Amino acid sequence: MKIGLIGTGNMSRSLGILWAEQGHEIFWGSRDPNKAKSVAEFAGHNTQGGTNDEAAEFGEVIFYSVRGVMPSTVLSSTDCLAGKIILDCNNRDIPEGFAYGPLMAESLAEKLAVDVPNARVVKAFNTIAQEVFELSPEPLQEHQVSVYICGDDLEARQTTMTLAKDIGFNPIDCGPLRSARMLEALGDFIRFMIGGMGLGPYATISVNVLPEASQQRLGRRQSGS
Ligand SMILES: NC(=O)c1ccc[n+]([C@@H]2O[C@H](COP(=O)([O-])OP(=O)(O)OC[C@H]3O[C@@H](n4cnc5c(N)ncnc54)[C@H](OP(=O)(O)O)[C@@H]3O)[C@@H](O)[C@H]2O)c1
Repeated sequence: MKIGLIGTGNMSRSLGILWAEQGHEIFWGSRDPNKAKSVAEFAGHNTQGGTNDEAAEFGEVIFYSVRGVMPSTVLSSTDCLAGKIILDCNNRDIPEGFAYGPLMAESLAEKLAVDVPNARVVKAFNTIAQEVFELSPEPLQEHQVSVYICGDDLEARQTTMTLAKDIGFNPIDCGPLRSARMLEALGDFIRFMIGGMGLGPYATISVNVLPEASQQRLGRRQSGS
């Protein structure tokens, strides 16, 4: 799959390298094309680097890790994004002392979708710290780390689930893009656990479906009164 990554920051470098190792074609874009070229040189695997516009043209899937600045500002035109999958991994800023206010009425991913209405926006990878990507796919698979994925286009979600699986994660389908409000809140929570409660960057949040109880020791669930 051809993946264009906008920006050469921590998330973009890590995921781009992991996907390149799995045989995907990678093009990093940057405000400074030389920076993107040196990331590609470091990564090897025939990866390329250049401008953000070139990365947006190149990818069938676009990884978007620029927080708070929309593609219509970053790119000279968003026409080339028509029909493409845009992966949004962004979380809001962490407030002083992790003192978050009310949940957001609209997620960053939904704002992105308003900015690029011709593209298929998917929220993914926002609940995992960059350090976890240092682990290679094989040990990661053992831990069944969840990657939560939502978006209004089913095929775009399925493609993202495959991309998550390729690099060792357990993809969890979270339905339509409005679920990004919950996933971004989950992003807030895991960063609180990592930074606020001191668990460190290898802390993760996963969904595990347990086997059903073999006997009803406690009686059945009753309806609330
Ligand atoms: N780091 C993590 O562990 C982690 C985990 C989950 C989610 N996230 C979320 O993922 C997003 C990216 O995090 P990150 O750690 O990768 O950040 P980062 O290292 O700062 O990378 C962001 C990149 O975006 C580009 N950029 C920044 N400002 C820009 C602007 N005004 N216009 C165009 N491009 C701009 C820059 O790339 P160029 O200099 O190449 O242009 C920059 O390197 C954030 O929203 C964060 O909350 C991060």
